[in-house]
Amino acid sequence: MVKKIVLAYSGGLDTSVAIKWLAEEYSSSVITVTVNLGQFEDLEEIGKRAYKTGAIKHYSIDALDEFSTDFIAPEIASNGLYEGKYPLATALARPLIAKKMVEVAKKEGADMVAHGSTGKGNDQVRFDVTIKALAPNIKVIAPVREWDMNRSMEIEYAKKKEIPVSIKKSEFSIDENLWGRSAESGRLEDPMTEPPEEAFGWTKSPLDAPDKPAYIDLEFKGGLPVAMNGKAMKLSSLITALNRLAGEHGIGRIDHIEDRLVGIKSREVYEAPAASVILEAHRDLEKLTLPKSILNFKAIVDSTWARLIYEGLWVDPLRQSLEAFTMSTQRYVNGSVRIKLYKGGMRVVGRSSKNSLYLSNLATYGTGSTFDQKAAIGFIEIWGLQARTAKLIMDGQ
Ligand code: ARG
Repeated sequence: MVKKIVLAYSGGLDTSVAIKWLAEEYSSSVITVTVNLGQFEDLEEIGKRAYKTGAIKHYSIDALDEFSTDFIAPEIASNGLYEGKYPLATALARPLIAKKMVEVAKKEGADMVAHGSTGKGNDQVRFDVTIKALAPNIKVIAPVREWDMNRSMEIEYAKKKEIPVSIKKSEFSIDENLWGRSAESGRLEDPMTEPPEEAFGWTKSPLDAPDKPAYIDLEFKGGLPVAMNGKAMKLSSLITALNRLAGEHGIGRIDHIEDRLVGIKSREVYEAPAASVILEAHRDLEKLTLPKSILNFKAIVDSTWARLIYEGLWVDPLRQSLEAFTMSTQRYVNGSVRIKLYKGGMRVVGRSSKNSLYLSNLATYGTGSTFDQKAAIGFIEIWGLQARTAKLIMDGQ
């Protein structure tokens, strides 16, 4: 019986060449899988291309809502930013694609799966680790890691084998899904070069953004946005709408020097309009509704969670333990946040919550304060006691 390989297929050059290469190199039939995570691609067209290139079967799987509820939701609750800047769009998507590949492989009785990642990046780690954890007996192949072809050799190979690829002119390598768009290579490889306008696809240049600011009211329930400007929406639709709106105002451009898992520092350019707005609003609402003890501890949990996702360890049981803590805090994170968008800049300008810990009778400098200012004197005396004593003795005075 001919062996079967399940290949994660994007429709691009690498994975198109991979269909033919895998079939020949491993004397196998290739089954392709494309997962819809909100990328702006013609999925029907990709399916047709897979068959034309020699796939024996193609799966087009819509996982947009699963991506939103099982991956983006914990990301929002965890204020997930790798190295304080990257909202993890690409990193979050990989384990879900891996999960879908494994599902298809099991259904089809395939004992090999393949993906188009290179040997220099993080994505290979995310795919390999997740697949091996979900299906220890399935072999993972990353053709690009094995075949030693550069881009022009791949184009040559595609011509020779009559592979129908549209060689895109773009100098940038793009990955996109509902949560964001990642761009690298080309001119972006010089960290001193300002990203040219052509590197962006989702956001207007702030110069061309509307001259009037826009206000967005985001309503959160249990730590997740549930309505925008008074209109209730499911998470995936809210993110789609907000990407468009905030993108119009030039919001969400991120230029980041990043530490890859394999030890390389790289320059990444991201666009994440909705993610930027939602994460900013969520963090702000947490500050209103959670005590500082939780906020301080949660910051450690949040950054640990983000690093775990970035480093391809979505399957590590630590993730679920961290999320269990995080979710226990989110039941208080309810309320509304007002954000002002203006020419590439974004600011939270108002917030309210029935769980607010902000009490005006304590905070006010006006009339009606119930805070006993005289009590502060004794508090400060004891609060600073050890620091004062230690300083005097240790400085030898
Ligand atoms: N550096 C990011 C990450 O590891 C994004 C990589 C995106 N890939 C691309 N082809 N642009 O998550």
